[in-house]
Amino acid sequence: MPKVFVTRKIPDTGLKILKKKYEVEVFSDSTNPTKEEFINGAKDADAIVSLLSDPIDREIIESCKNLKVIANYAVGYDNIDLDAAKENNISVTNTPDVLTQATADLTWTLLLSAVRRIIESDKFVRDLKYKGWGPELLLGQRTYGKTLGIIGFGRIGKSVAKRAKGFNMNVLYNKRTPLDKAEEEKLNATYAELDELIKSSDFITINASLNESTYHLIDKSELKNMKETAVIINTGRGPIINEKELANALKNKEIFAAGLDVYEEEPEIYHKLLELDNVVLTPHTGSATTYSRYKMSEMVVEDVIAVLEGRKPNNKVI
Ligand code: DGY
Repeated sequence: MPKVFVTRKIPDTGLKILKKKYEVEVFSDSTNPTKEEFINGAKDADAIVSLLSDPIDREIIESCKNLKVIANYAVGYDNIDLDAAKENNISVTNTPDVLTQATADLTWTLLLSAVRRIIESDKFVRDLKYKGWGPELLLGQRTYGKTLGIIGFGRIGKSVAKRAKGFNMNVLYNKRTPLDKAEEEKLNATYAELDELIKSSDFITINASLNESTYHLIDKSELKNMKETAVIINTGRGPIINEKELANALKNKEIFAAGLDVYEEEPEIYHKLLELDNVVLTPHTGSATTYSRYKMSEMVVEDVIAVLEGRKPNNKVI
């Protein structure tokens, strides 16, 4: 019977189907395997169901002699060495679409929370500091009619743009290949070079994937070029922002606030960020709705079965 190594328990919607068909080893309910534990569990597996937090490098891939598919329980797949997978004839699949709306919602949740100082406000109330309505108490910024800059304009970025219509925003976007005019008009979005987007946007959101060209895309000089009132949100991947420089810019009030769902060294959070009031932090929960996570479980399982039965998976990365 083929073996499937699942690095961490995923929802039963898919897992129960997998367990009926194959020998399934679930590494843990609560932790990811170390590299050694990974190789130990996966070396005789035909398929791996992995998380975005499992780095799968060449050494792991080449240790798994029976491996046919890595089904990544995420839309992003920067945790996997695709070249090594390709050279070893291993398919890689992901879980797009079903988490698009959830991640766009979280982007907006972080944006509005940062702009309206929701975390500070919550703390203020819990600390019993609220002694009566105040004309200048915890003033935030206006969102309506402002300019939103979206870096990375795939499914999630576009869904963020659609939500901006209700706020009557001017939307700028940056991506490798600009959209055609008809699609731009439909989304009410205008292409901007990165420099221009950074200088002109009131709020900036990162919805890009991580690759060589996006690593530290937002660094010291980009932060310097932002408005003093700028708010930056990242629900893409942590290393797209230089976190140390971001913490400095926030501390020195060079920008107004930030909202982060992803970090450079997850699950570590750069200690200076934890000390700041003007940053909202969530634990990489962009796709964390029951709808998305249950569907993602079904998707990885369908694709494992497809590959092991010799069919083309629905969500093939390579
Ligand atoms: C993913 O699945 O890659 C995203 O990080 C969702 O938040």
